[in-house]
Amino acid sequence: MSSQAQNRRLTAPDIAARKGEAGGEPIVALTAYTAPMARLVDGVADVILVGDSVGMVVHGFDSTLPVTLDMMILHAQAVMRGSQRALVVIDLPFATYEAGPLQAFEAAARIMKETGCGAVKLEGGAHMAETVRFLTQRGIPVMGHTGLTPQSIAALGSFRAQGRERSQWPQMIADAQAIAQAGAFSVVVEAVAEPLAVEITKAVEVPVIGIGASAQCDGQILVLDDMLGLTPRTPKFVKRYAEIGADAERALAEYAREVRERSFPAPQQTYPERKR
Ligand code: KIV
Repeated sequence: MSSQAQNRRLTAPDIAARKGEAGGEPIVALTAYTAPMARLVDGVADVILVGDSVGMVVHGFDSTLPVTLDMMILHAQAVMRGSQRALVVIDLPFATYEAGPLQAFEAAARIMKETGCGAVKLEGGAHMAETVRFLTQRGIPVMGHTGLTPQSIAALGSFRAQGRERSQWPQMIADAQAIAQAGAFSVVVEAVAEPLAVEITKAVEVPVIGIGASAQCDGQILVLDDMLGLTPRTPKFVKRYAEIGADAERALAEYAREVRERSFPAPQQTYPERKR
């Protein structure tokens, strides 16, 4: 059955089952952080990620590091209220899971209990496999995230693409495989050389969802505000499908002009006196 025809909410096992499905469609994933945007995205996407990119996109931080669990839960609750069909996945924010499996379980369990979402996502390769295994064995579906991992920005130095040298590929393939073998139901691979993304997709037994990766991945994800043209600068891998920011600028300028020249509100937007 096409995922669009399904009228219950998709689950992590539904998404995992899409790996290598004969004639299967790629998985469509997007971020959302608010109920109205979740409503729009739910009409087309299989997966809605409440990404910690919310820190940069909505809250104006320079990185995702300041994002807290409370912020993620608040946005996740809004996205759950705005959606009915897509699997909603919530990012574990920086410093809520890296210390070890128990810390990760406490953060992930709080997210699951307080939001009703279907899965959590965490960043990292083989060194996070033990944590992924701990969570998945305790009933928490986990999406992995390898390649460029924005929560490591302080160590990486910049948001540049990873795996541009072939010598780096074996470790990067092993990282994605380790997360899948530990029980993750899918793995996001961000900003890597295109042929490496193809190799990771072939090597990993669960769906690989690309962002700045390859059209050959099992699915694609983009940050919603980037692809709608709401962010001032977008990475090379983003295609802007709309220019809503520019449209908003035009609308705001027109409103300001009409207010200043007293042509707004016009009679259509005012209430006449009721005559008896
Ligand atoms: O936080 C986020 O939006 C993400 C996507 C870039 C995959 O992790």
